[in-house]
Amino acid sequence: MNRLIPPSKRLIAQFSPTAAFNIPGDKSLSHRAALFSALAEGESMISNFLDSGVTHVMLTALSALDIEWTLDANTLVVHGKGLNGFTTPAEPLYCGHSATTIRLLAGAVAASGIGVTLDGSPGLRKRPMDRIIDPLRKLGVEISASNTGTAPLVLTARDPRKGLLGGTIQLSQASAQVKTCVLLAGLAAQSDLIIHEPGPSRDHSERMLKSMGVPLQINGLTIRMPQFSTPLQPLSLRLPGDISAAAFLIVAAIITPESNFIFEEVGLNPTRTGLLDVLTAMGANLDMQVTSQIAGELTGRIIARSSKLNGITVSGDLVVRMIDEFPIFAVAAACAEGETVVKDAGELRYKESDRIKALCQQLQKIGIKIRETQDGFIIQGNQHIPGGTAQSCGDHRLAMSLAVAGLASKHGVSVEGANIINQSFPAFFDLLQHTGTSL
Ligand code: S3P
Repeated sequence: MNRLIPPSKRLIAQFSPTAAFNIPGDKSLSHRAALFSALAEGESMISNFLDSGVTHVMLTALSALDIEWTLDANTLVVHGKGLNGFTTPAEPLYCGHSATTIRLLAGAVAASGIGVTLDGSPGLRKRPMDRIIDPLRKLGVEISASNTGTAPLVLTARDPRKGLLGGTIQLSQASAQVKTCVLLAGLAAQSDLIIHEPGPSRDHSERMLKSMGVPLQINGLTIRMPQFSTPLQPLSLRLPGDISAAAFLIVAAIITPESNFIFEEVGLNPTRTGLLDVLTAMGANLDMQVTSQIAGELTGRIIARSSKLNGITVSGDLVVRMIDEFPIFAVAAACAEGETVVKDAGELRYKESDRIKALCQQLQKIGIKIRETQDGFIIQGNQHIPGGTAQSCGDHRLAMSLAVAGLASKHGVSVEGANIINQSFPAFFDLLQHTGTSL
């Protein structure tokens, strides 16, 4: 599917759960809520669940593990059967394009002790899995992968009388997917588990597991999970809007003349708000206010208006706090005055695409002056984006970023392969149209 996004101005919109248009529920929280509920004992109810390609892959895998669920008007009900409640599936579990699904499921399946093969799309088969294989083996999980350390992953069934090992696990990356995989497997450990992270990553799993009764003790980059055997309590919560989805619209408001968007009930977990901090430091006319807390997650209001931005350097721990936002950040940086440099972001090469290469190649196609470096990129700012045709490269975030670039371009941007957006944000074009963009 090709989508042409024309140059626009004066975009005005409000996104809220009580208005006609809302920001969809957080993707990371939706994955966790579905899977953790399956491991709990009893019925969980999650509203504002993200109904999209990647979350359906997780739900379909849960069905194959014999977990019952229903999804109606974004409310997910899951009938959890406890830590050992999965049934061995007849076929390999297909995780589509979703690294969150395969890495989190690996941890949950390891805890349950059943034998399973986890596989996915050709794109997913290229993504590194040694980062979860090594710690899982240390916990006593029998797991193998292809000789490149990638999917398919084969987990061998465990003697049901035996648990897993505890001990100390040093993670090789600051990655919430890896951390969550280890935490989930650790639910079956027969002694205390200690996890050290090399840097701070999103902490949704810790917050949600605590709300389900897991006695986690967190001290900086160290998590201690004392051995315990109480069943996980079911969840009853409403998920906040996805800050990573709102990010595309926030930048749209900032780079489009005379625009103003208000967002209500968006997740403002500080481990996810790096982009907001960077845009503010660049001079963006952005207001944020925490209004409530849901299951340990801060939620609030964001107001974004047309702004004049200045270039900036992004590096260090800040990179992880905005790890999914670099494609859209690059579009904002192209419209800023002066140079923007991104460093320490080599992890972007292992996302839905080699995001550094794909981003640079595709933004160059629409006339943006961006240069690839080994661990990031450099953008010459103050650009008037000419526009043109570019490809999504099978990356939903790259596709949405190209679309937003079209708004600030001279001739519009045509995005090839735009249907990949359905993986995470099926309502994206409807919401863009609601702002006044003539699509
Ligand atoms: C996610 C963690 C991040 C992020 C991904 C979702 C999660 O990946 O890029 O979109 O839900 O835990 P890493 O943990 O690999 O950095």
